[in-house]
Amino acid sequence: MDALNKKTIEDIDVKGKKVLARCDFNVPLKDGEITNDKRIVAALPTIKYLMENGAKVILCSHLGRPKGEYKPEFSLAPVAAKLSEYLGVEVKLAEDPEVVGENAKAMAADLKDGEVMLLENVRYRKEETKNEENFSKELASLAEIFVNDAFGTAHRAHCSTTGVASYLPAVCGYLIQKEIKFMGGALADPKRPLVAILGGAKVSDKIGVISNLIEKCDTIIIGGGMAYTFMKYLGHNIGDSLLEADWVEKAGEMMKSAEEKGVKFLIPVDNKVGKEYDENTESQIVNSDEIPDGWMGLDIGPKTQTMFADAIKGAGTVIWNGPMGVSEWDNFAAGTICVAKAVAESGAISVIGGGDSVAAVTKLGFADKMSHISTGGGASLEFLEGKDLPGICALADKD
Ligand code: 3PG
Repeated sequence: MDALNKKTIEDIDVKGKKVLARCDFNVPLKDGEITNDKRIVAALPTIKYLMENGAKVILCSHLGRPKGEYKPEFSLAPVAAKLSEYLGVEVKLAEDPEVVGENAKAMAADLKDGEVMLLENVRYRKEETKNEENFSKELASLAEIFVNDAFGTAHRAHCSTTGVASYLPAVCGYLIQKEIKFMGGALADPKRPLVAILGGAKVSDKIGVISNLIEKCDTIIIGGGMAYTFMKYLGHNIGDSLLEADWVEKAGEMMKSAEEKGVKFLIPVDNKVGKEYDENTESQIVNSDEIPDGWMGLDIGPKTQTMFADAIKGAGTVIWNGPMGVSEWDNFAAGTICVAKAVAESGAISVIGGGDSVAAVTKLGFADKMSHISTGGGASLEFLEGKDLPGICALADKD
């Protein structure tokens, strides 16, 4: 898949046409209120372009996992309200439990050029996640053009991301274009050295990413809970730290492969360990080969911070996915803060992907210092693994 070669909204005439635009409005909610609207904000350039260019815009998205049933708590009503606020016009929600129902059909038929409406949660339909033809056709019947701008859902082959593209001319929006430009560019033609920082709890989640990045990077930095599986391979006692015993061998293979290819592979040399998995637990700093029994690694230590920061300092491009420790706890956030600061100050092209590292960078106030913060969690991981994303594959290629 040459993702950069996909047709975009600018390659197609949208004036007076009904355009079904798939966005990823899967935003966090608490008591019915949106707690983070970044994905809505990220979708605005495409929506505004369509409105300003005279399209009749029918937006759609999933929210959470209602599992094919109508459940009011998964309604997109809060998203419609937020969109109305940002766009300065009322974005009406077609309140059909079956998504493409009488309300949706009538509203779509009445749309005037430049107007915008929103369908209900596409996952109210059980066919959606199975990519069944009938629902894809129902969605397609509302419009004349399909625009996919849901990067966060591009790794899912669902009716509203891929199925519908079989029945309408299908192009990508600005968000997908931007994500591909930054993430694809960082992998395909990076300013070197290319440094990847990988953290988070599990090696098993990141092994595909590591093996793809070993082929492309100059340096790979490993932090977070998954680092302890690598330490185990090196024969260290890791106490009660996170371990994926079945992945120790694979972790070793990764380290050997990096060495053969001349890729620097950095794992923590010291750690902040705690007595219990608790924010206020007793803690101490120990070297990686000296983790005592009964203690668990919860953050990288100060020597590792310096080592990682030095490696980041000279980078031309940085790809970062996953925190260095339990960054949501102040006592164990220092490693992630240090890395975020080093990336922000490096002057490198920086691409941040994955929910947790994005949350950390945002919470620490470094978001505007990064070149690109991906709106995709699973999607950005799959992209970094080198996988084709079905939601992008389904779109038309440029002539
Ligand atoms: C996400 O939040 O990663 C996307 O919206 C996809 O959601 P899903 O994992 O429920 O498919």
